[in-house]
Amino acid sequence: MLIKSEKAFYTYNTHIESEGAVVAVNGVSIEIQRGEFVSILGRNGSGKSTFARLLNALLIPDSGTIIVNNIDTRDSDYIWEIRSRIGMVFQNPDNQIVATSVEEDVAFGPENLGIEPKEIINRVNQAIEMVGMSEYSNHSPHLLSGGQKQRVAIAGILAMKPECIVLDEATAMLDPVGRKEIINILKELNQNEGITIIHITHHMEEAVKANRVIIMESGQIKYDGTPKQIFSKVKEIKGMGLDVPQVTELLYSLKNMGLNINESIVNIEDAVNEIVKLVNKID
Ligand SMILES: Nc1ncnc2c1ncn2[C@@H]1O[C@H](COP(=O)(O)OP(=O)(O)OP(=O)(O)O)[C@@H](O)[C@H]1O
Ligand SMILES: [Mg+2]
Repeated sequence: MLIKSEKAFYTYNTHIESEGAVVAVNGVSIEIQRGEFVSILGRNGSGKSTFARLLNALLIPDSGTIIVNNIDTRDSDYIWEIRSRIGMVFQNPDNQIVATSVEEDVAFGPENLGIEPKEIINRVNQAIEMVGMSEYSNHSPHLLSGGQKQRVAIAGILAMKPECIVLDEATAMLDPVGRKEIINILKELNQNEGITIIHITHHMEEAVKANRVIIMESGQIKYDGTPKQIFSKVKEIKGMGLDVPQVTELLYSLKNMGLNINESIVNIEDAVNEIVKLVNKID
């Protein structure tokens, strides 16, 4: 097991009387195994970012525990160990650039870990290659597209040899092409390198690429299952103010029109097969 959250609570004390204390994470118990690809969904303010920050000790739970790699995040002796194991990528690519060339930017993390210069060079080259940015090694990160900047941010984490990458809406500011590139890279890192991925997103088409989908509501975990299990609850999900993937929506509408169709489908190929089956029956 890589991550274990046990009855974790986190409250923000706003010091604004009208707002008071906000319980952002409200008793989350969950285990995440090595090698999983998890998507976290939920409406604005449901506690996704706060929970993500608990995972790499950017925040410490008020009560309950978060265990990463058998280390309690409360143990301040191991804070850098945890942060190098669980890398975070945030929403705004511009805020994550720390150097004037891609290479230097990616080297920043391993340099801070005190790794040998020779080893750093190896890691940096390898990480940049893994995200397909080798031809930009000497470029200024500021001149790259949003998607390329996020790829550089991911490379910076890879250079620290992480077990897990947590992406907090890292695709939110990207165009569809940039988003797709990031998702493809995450898939590759997960499948080929065994890196655990936790991807917070508002895009259902991205969420279905995960092996596991978690939906948060009011600081708690409301649903946890495979994409198919989760998105078959179309009514419940819509009731929470969330969308379902487009193909699921289409089949759900067809079912509501009275057609005998399986609506718990989340990808295009399965949807095509289901519709072909239906058309053949009509013939
Ligand atoms: N720094 C803060 N100070 C006070 N309250 C906060 C702070 N950060 C978040 N909150 C509150 O905690 C709750 C959970 O916020 P959080 O950012 O974790 O949600 P989220 O699911 O990531 O939302 P979004 O989809 O908008 O990113 C919200 O009610 C939010 O207003
Ligand atoms: Mg958030």
